Amino acid sequence: MVTGWPDRRLIDLFGIEAPILLAPMAGAGGVELAVAAMAGGALGSLPCAMLTPEQVREQVAAVRGRSQAPLNLNFFCHKPAPAPAQSRWLAALEPYYREYGVGLPAEPPPLRAPFSDAMCAIVEETRPELVSFHFGLPDAPLLDRVRASAAKIIASATTVAEARWLDARGVDAVIAQGFEAGGHAGRFLPADPAAQMGLFALLPQIVDAVAVPVIAAGGIADARGVTAAFALGAAGVQIGTAYLHCPESLIGPGHRAALTSEDAERTVFTNLISGGFARGVPNRLIEELGPVSPDAPPFPHATAALAELRKAAEARGRTDFTPLWSGQTARLARPIGAREFTQRLISEALALLTQRASAPILAP
Ligand SMILES: Cc1cc2nc3c(=O)[nH]c(=O)nc-3n(C[C@H](O)[C@H](O)[C@H](O)COP(=O)(O)O)c2cc1C
Repeated sequence: MVTGWPDRRLIDLFGIEAPILLAPMAGAGGVELAVAAMAGGALGSLPCAMLTPEQVREQVAAVRGRSQAPLNLNFFCHKPAPAPAQSRWLAALEPYYREYGVGLPAEPPPLRAPFSDAMCAIVEETRPELVSFHFGLPDAPLLDRVRASAAKIIASATTVAEARWLDARGVDAVIAQGFEAGGHAGRFLPADPAAQMGLFALLPQIVDAVAVPVIAAGGIADARGVTAAFALGAAGVQIGTAYLHCPESLIGPGHRAALTSEDAERTVFTNLISGGFARGVPNRLIEELGPVSPDAPPFPHATAALAELRKAAEARGRTDFTPLWSGQTARLARPIGAREFTQRLISEALALLTQRASAPILAP
């Protein structure tokens, strides 16, 4: 009879209680969500892509003051494209600018910045147990410094080729991010976004392709998803969307309402919001222009053109231009505290995994 997790590799590697990772979610997760998920037994993550080095330092100190459990710091590794001419995109937005009486921001908002020397120095100073990367890995000198800090390194793969690429560069585990996942797809090798695989297809193929443990991400929101991921060879799961419902997440009321609405059953990949492909509930802009436009500036530049529109609409209580990031399983989750959610997930998953293992096995 199974008395615990069928795969203990991540528990041993990361020193965690259970192989459940709170997904880092830039703009949506922070100290409160991390501390509550850690109290429930998950690995806590702090998303750092939209923070300054000083903010990262403060947030790590705040978490460390309340929890001794291992902590993951998450960074982006995109190679920012030069700021493009956006005349066609601005023309497409013109009717909305007129309606709301706004335009481009006087000061461009801070863009999501890739992992840098300054952030690496914060990793060396604060010594998180894990560092995770989205959109590939930093160049070798920075990666070597992170490794020398003793942090375990994990990163997202959306294809088998990306998983092999990460494995060859010595990551400690690969996150297999399926098509179902909320937020930005971590794709970093050239591939048509339309070719992205769902987790049921992607996960076992990555498990077969790499030597390191694989963490399943995308569409997992309850114990059934956790159990299925282990059956497909995962050594752990990373969960984002289900944690967005928790009162500790930083999302606004419009986003929270969208997650429980019927619209959450038809999330789409869109490039209108940041320029990168990301999954969310359609807002008015996406409904009216369609989810994908060749005129939207490349990641992360699209954010600037919508900044004032978003502010003006939100001041009227509307989500017309607000990113409503969500994976495909938002409707499976409930608004309960992150600690309770994690505890329930762990005990229900263990019950299911145990039941499965002790069920009669069919003769070959
Ligand atoms: C609101 C939101 C923000 C996200 N931001 C990040 C991020 O900053 N870094 C990252 O590595 N992944 C990010 N992700 C992706 C998650 O790490 C993870 O792959 C995904 O949430 C898993 O799928 P699920 O949402 O279906 O649980 C984000 C996801 C969401 C929903």
